[in-house]
Amino acid sequence: MNTDQKRMVLVVEDNAPMQKVLSLSIQKMDYDYAIAKNGREALDLIESGDVSPDAILLDIRMPVMSGLVVLPKIRTIIPSVPVIMLTAFGDLETGLAAMKAGAFDYLVKPSSLEKIRETLEKAFSYREIMEMKAEEERKREQQRLELEKRVESSYQELGDVYGKLKKMNLQTAYALAETIEAKDRYTQGHCERVRWLSSRIGKAMSLADEEIEQLEYAALLHDIGKIGIPDSILNKEGPLNERERQIIRMHPIIGAQILSTVEFFEKAAAAVRHHHERWDGKGYPDGVEGERIDHLARIISLADTLDAMATSRPYRRALSFDEVLQEIHLMRGIQFAPDVVDVFFAADLDKAYLEKFREEVRKKKDKP
Ligand SMILES: [Fe+2]
Repeated sequence: MNTDQKRMVLVVEDNAPMQKVLSLSIQKMDYDYAIAKNGREALDLIESGDVSPDAILLDIRMPVMSGLVVLPKIRTIIPSVPVIMLTAFGDLETGLAAMKAGAFDYLVKPSSLEKIRETLEKAFSYREIMEMKAEEERKREQQRLELEKRVESSYQELGDVYGKLKKMNLQTAYALAETIEAKDRYTQGHCERVRWLSSRIGKAMSLADEEIEQLEYAALLHDIGKIGIPDSILNKEGPLNERERQIIRMHPIIGAQILSTVEFFEKAAAAVRHHHERWDGKGYPDGVEGERIDHLARIISLADTLDAMATSRPYRRALSFDEVLQEIHLMRGIQFAPDVVDVFFAADLDKAYLEKFREEVRKKKDKP
């Protein structure tokens, strides 16, 4: 990453006026840029080391070598550099196909300066996380090798996640949820309670069985993206600074990317991406509001927040159950979807949740 220098964006675009618009926008944001007219030129620049971009804007339709052909080649050479596809209006499907092939995001041409800036900033944060993660993985690998010398270790690499996902069943999903909870030590049992409550809300809303299935997976794995967040930030005692907050806020995007590698999880991936969105549009990572928020995510959001408020975290004590319910009433139509809140109370899920919570506390006490 160009830390001392300005950040650099490689623009791969054949259309001269569009090159001009993009390069001027990037200049306005005070980033550096380089231009390639097609995929072949971009590859030459990257392979020769003439440019080392922090993000790439890649047009899809170009002569010589198109964006979709060059994308996998770029991903092989510089995997930690996020690639943002440029798609024509009305060609959303190609943009989505590119994301499946490993693109970080896509922009529909022409995009506003604000939209380009927002997308680039997200891409830079993502790049930073990928590099921190790679550094952690290097360290972890070193530790692992040392450990192996002494004992036959059953140390599990986080890289196994993808393999496990492909052979996914509920049991492996639980194992993955435990991996997240092991990383984030304040959240024991949280993922399972969120699954339990989301599923009950979904059933009370008469969702179809397949939707309930995706809802349960998404709820159980909603924080799977935390696997990509450095431990030093995740378990930091005391308040986070702005930069660290931004990095933590990437976890829905990373989680959705992990799940989207498996076709079966397409719906769950969309729900994971939106689980921190708010009804009033003040959530993250996309800041979408109301009905534009994934409908399964609206359910998970309520279950997740409720359980988080009812348990203590490093930065605050647990609220009393009455306080939690009051907060949910208060945030109806602000943070939470009104119909989800209504169903939650109408189906007496407040009482059911409290009963489950108390049961867990009792069980914990009984354990020697
Ligand atoms: Fe989360």
